[in-house]
Amino acid sequence: MAIQALGYLGIGTDRLDDWTDYATNWLGMQAVNRGAGVRAFRMDDRKQRLVVDRSLAEGQRYFGWEVADAAALDALGARLEAASIAVTREPKSLADQRFVSDLVSFADPFGNRLEAFHGAQIADEPFRPGRSISGFRTGPLGMGHAVLMVTNVDTALAFYRDLLGFRISDFVRGPLTGYFMHVNPRHHSLALFEAPFNGMHHLMVELYSFDDVGQGYDIALGDKEKIVATLGRHPNDLVTSFYMHTPSDILVEYGWGGVEVDDATWQPHEMTSVGSFWGHHGLFDALGAPPPEPPATRRAPVQVMEGNFHRMSGVCPWWDSIKARS
Ligand SMILES: [Fe+2]
Repeated sequence: MAIQALGYLGIGTDRLDDWTDYATNWLGMQAVNRGAGVRAFRMDDRKQRLVVDRSLAEGQRYFGWEVADAAALDALGARLEAASIAVTREPKSLADQRFVSDLVSFADPFGNRLEAFHGAQIADEPFRPGRSISGFRTGPLGMGHAVLMVTNVDTALAFYRDLLGFRISDFVRGPLTGYFMHVNPRHHSLALFEAPFNGMHHLMVELYSFDDVGQGYDIALGDKEKIVATLGRHPNDLVTSFYMHTPSDILVEYGWGGVEVDDATWQPHEMTSVGSFWGHHGLFDALGAPPPEPPATRRAPVQVMEGNFHRMSGVCPWWDSIKARS
């Protein structure tokens, strides 16, 4: 029954043209025409990942959580119903709209519409990014991560961790209370922050190339009011990213270099600070909290994948002595 990834996200909005411009020219997604009232965006070989829909009210959203197959979907539905959660077996017409084989829908304790699905359709045509990027890091890691604000984090944990099987990567208890949770090697596919309101804070998408993020930052710098948090590096998932407004009330985090979590060795742990290694100025204002005081001494190796780095040749006696001392 296990949820494996954040497969897709749907957003209700009237601002279809603004979203199309933003998703293609800023983020580098590929727009796909879905007829009047709906725009879909590709990030990879799938037919769609992000959908904006005029028939949904502004602020309405649906989160598509992926399971392996029909048996896993049945098992998840049965587990939810055993916990007295209402589950709707959605008709084929909706599965066709989502470009998946089958789905069920249900709500989390805060009214967010969740969909669980299997069998996402692959497009016949290769992905053609809306601007020149190397591509999004998706595949088994899903489309990225979602961060939700919830009025009761314990209630959220009972639902997402205990019922749906999300696993805690790490958590923080001050100045905010937040839990980062994984369902695959991505450090978190979902993060939950306690707040006086329920809502979605941001969607994170991860790029293959650091330069994709830097060039996206250059584009955003052309319209500085769109930047919510400056380029910076997170201490837990080690992502280097910046945050920007979207045509809707959610933010997008545009990032690179996320660490992978291995359940065989990873231990959930409490962080003493959620403050970034550097940068991300403005992020905590957006989260409604004062910025934490980050110890200015934290750093970590960059996370790279095969084919995405060159090892520097030679040695430096000075640097080697620094490393030996640390
Ligand atoms: Fe994030």
